[in-house]
Amino acid sequence: EKVLIIHGPNLNLLGQREPGIYGSTTLENINSLLHERAAELGLELSIIQTNHEGVMVDTIQQAQGEYACIIINPAAFTHYSIAVRDALAAVTIPAIEVHLSNIYRREEFRHHSVISPIAIGQISGFGSHGYLLALEAAWRLIRSA
Ligand code: DQA
Repeated sequence: EKVLIIHGPNLNLLGQREPGIYGSTTLENINSLLHERAAELGLELSIIQTNHEGVMVDTIQQAQGEYACIIINPAAFTHYSIAVRDALAAVTIPAIEVHLSNIYRREEFRHHSVISPIAIGQISGFGSHGYLLALEAAWRLIRSA
């Protein structure tokens, strides 16, 4: 079974970007941990990072029929992109929302996610480990489908 992981804008800078908030782990580190865990769980993984809303929308649309689950950190798009939300709602693939930081203990403009209402669930505040938690959740969803 295939799982698609989508990292949103500025996550390519992980490790250098506000390390006090996002940690010192790079996106490459996170992706290799994900590949390792996916192999153990018997899942096939595709991982992409984009800084572009339209690319994110295209990627989600093209996932239909290809992937059993989407794990997405929409980054700043979380808070305002109706286009990303609509794309996730248009495909019939369950989505799991991930944030490295706990968005509810940060600035007020981060407290609202337009993605959460159409996601299966959200993992927020556990740093890079959140992606591994999401992968386990995806595995369980797929197994029980
Ligand atoms: C983030 C939280 C967002 O508010 C922020 O815009 C990000 C990263 C997180 O992973 O904690 O870029 O999604």
